[in-house]
Amino acid sequence: MVGSGAVAANDGWSSRTAFLMAAIGAAVGLGNIWRFPTLAGENGGGAFVLVYVVCVALIGMPMVLTEVLLGRAGGGHADAVGSVADVAERSGRSRKWGAFGLIEVIAAFFILSFYSVVAGWVLNYVFLSGGDVLSVVLAGNPLSPAFVGQSQAEVTGMMGTLFSSPGRMIALHSLFMAVTLGIVMLGVGGGIEKAATWLMPAFFVLLVLITIYGAFAGSFAEAVVFLFTPNFSALTPLAVNEALGQAFFSLSLGSAALITYGSYVPARVSLGSTAAMIAAADTGVALLAGLMIFPIVFAAGLDPAAGPALIFQSLPVAFQGMPGGALVGLAFFLLIFFAALTSSISLLEGPTAFAMSAFKLRRGPAAILVAVLAFAIGIACALGYNVWSDVRPLAFWSVFENTNILDSIDGVTGKLMLPLAGLGLAVFTGWRADRRLVEAESGLSGATFVLWRGLVAWLAPVAVGLILLFGLFPGLLG
Ligand code: PHE
Repeated sequence: MVGSGAVAANDGWSSRTAFLMAAIGAAVGLGNIWRFPTLAGENGGGAFVLVYVVCVALIGMPMVLTEVLLGRAGGGHADAVGSVADVAERSGRSRKWGAFGLIEVIAAFFILSFYSVVAGWVLNYVFLSGGDVLSVVLAGNPLSPAFVGQSQAEVTGMMGTLFSSPGRMIALHSLFMAVTLGIVMLGVGGGIEKAATWLMPAFFVLLVLITIYGAFAGSFAEAVVFLFTPNFSALTPLAVNEALGQAFFSLSLGSAALITYGSYVPARVSLGSTAAMIAAADTGVALLAGLMIFPIVFAAGLDPAAGPALIFQSLPVAFQGMPGGALVGLAFFLLIFFAALTSSISLLEGPTAFAMSAFKLRRGPAAILVAVLAFAIGIACALGYNVWSDVRPLAFWSVFENTNILDSIDGVTGKLMLPLAGLGLAVFTGWRADRRLVEAESGLSGATFVLWRGLVAWLAPVAVGLILLFGLFPGLLG
């Protein structure tokens, strides 16, 4: 059955490179630059990094191939539900397997709602550092440090100022959502692909430049030791659990993005090596982000375990003490903005493709419907930092007892929905889907195929099942 959700022949990726850019753009985001360094910092550095890399290699990478493959095998359905149901039907199984695609669509929708709020914080710092650059350039001193003449307390206080202004938070959230929506409305080739092929190269150039800057102006050696010397005593079972969950979030697994993007991939592209490149690029960026951020943090004598405030409070303080800090600060927040935008585009595209086929809508109305609803939930997330700061939506559930609105949505999607969808699709692909169909679509053969299928059928369900269990019942870990 090819419904109205089918991909028009002219609206897919124009090339393999275009798909790679878009998929890497989806994967590389706040997860790499904000969450990964935060988690590595909080969990003692090297040991966490090692476990993370192992999780990506053994579970993440095989699952990226699984999702992209299900998308392309989905008989011309662009949406995650139709694609999975189609593969199930052609394998002689129930179309109900599509339910795991639906979990992915719903997860993407909720992640989008809070992702746009956090991206709004990034925009806030783009504007603040933009203003800072403007003033130092006008003063004839473009290579000045950041925020000259402001005290450290004033600089760290910028975050509190933002959080205590619901109006400002919501304005930035709407701006970010509007840009995301505008690009998705332009379509796969005309919008998503164009945005990715411009923003991702710009992102990489900035990443490399700032890393080099940090290597010279910061404490590079200290950062390398911190990130790559495993201190196993810091490695708690919860940290292992956290690493696996982070691998899912960072690779955009379990959230419709890869299935949907996979459905636009031309038949001639070999998926195995492409999926490996996506996972490798995402992990490479996470590690480089660590090598970009920690030299600067250490040089300023700041705490690597500062938590979520690391990039919004610690780094601007560090830029205050560094030559060229004003310009580097602007470059840094622009880089995060580019990464966040290509990710939010993919978060909107999955539910949009679903709305197009489920409600027989054209792309424009479907994208607007999803974006407006996610925007509304995002408003609640933003208010959770001020007007509704006492609200604990999941107070009844011990894991989320003390969690505000934004973190509750983050927690339920990351700890429950992504792993659940991943578990279902790993079991489906490893055990229920037609083996020949899967093999042909994967582009793998011989031992590589057997290895991949083994990881998907055995390791992924067990490991992901454990994330689910321990993520939701940390008490089991003692
Ligand atoms: N992978 C993105 C990041 O690391 C977030 C994301 C999750 C994007 C799920 C799409 C789907 O920031």
